[in-house]
Amino acid sequence: MTSAPSAPSALDVLLSRASTDHLVAPAPDKAQIARILSAGIRAPDHGKIRPWRYVVIKGKHRAAFAELVVRAMIAADPEVPEKKIQKRRERFSEMPMIIALVMALRPEGKIPLDEQKLSVGAGAMNVLNALHAEGFGGFWVSSDFAGEEVFRAGLGLEGAQTLAGFLFVGTPEKPVTGSKRPDIEDYMAIWKGEPVAFGADR
Ligand SMILES: Cc1cc2nc3c(=O)[nH]c(=O)nc-3n(C[C@H](O)[C@H](O)[C@H](O)COP(=O)(O)O)c2cc1C
Repeated sequence: MTSAPSAPSALDVLLSRASTDHLVAPAPDKAQIARILSAGIRAPDHGKIRPWRYVVIKGKHRAAFAELVVRAMIAADPEVPEKKIQKRRERFSEMPMIIALVMALRPEGKIPLDEQKLSVGAGAMNVLNALHAEGFGGFWVSSDFAGEEVFRAGLGLEGAQTLAGFLFVGTPEKPVTGSKRPDIEDYMAIWKGEPVAFGADR
């Protein structure tokens, strides 16, 4: 008699995550994405700032969102090459789901902005891991045009709200192996009362 393979442990899930932007439908449904984003707001958060906001773009609204992205790119650089515009337009209208990672920062008060941003980053990482745990895939991309007023107004960003990028979300087209990871021994050190040095920096 053969026994059923055991389910991967939580650590197995973390150790097997890798990014992919080769994403197809389905994206998480309404209940799934709410649960996945709930992992995001498990991030450590000094001072209960709760700086994470997630804007979900999906379905028929992706085309209009892609046009907003294009308007912002042109506002940021009127000379932006048409090829770059077309590539972004395609990506933002064809990804099964996009999540804008909003950082709702509180510059007033005593919690350093860096700590607030780190909390948003930690939340985003939790979302990527939760996507992977549920059989979906994700890819974090930059939002260099997101400071443009046309984009801020279109998304509804106010005051000190700004973006930490976007997550492209969907189902991996094929199994994701990801790039080879470096040896952890080069990135850790045990402090024994003397300054440490890392193999990675040699
Ligand atoms: C804040 C942030 C922004 C990123 N922006 C981009 C981007 O615009 N384009 C890109 O190709 N990769 C970008 N990356 C890297 C990818 O998300 C991904 O981490 C990388 O391709 C390596 O894949 P891995 O997550 O499997 O190591 C970004 C990563 C972070 C954390």
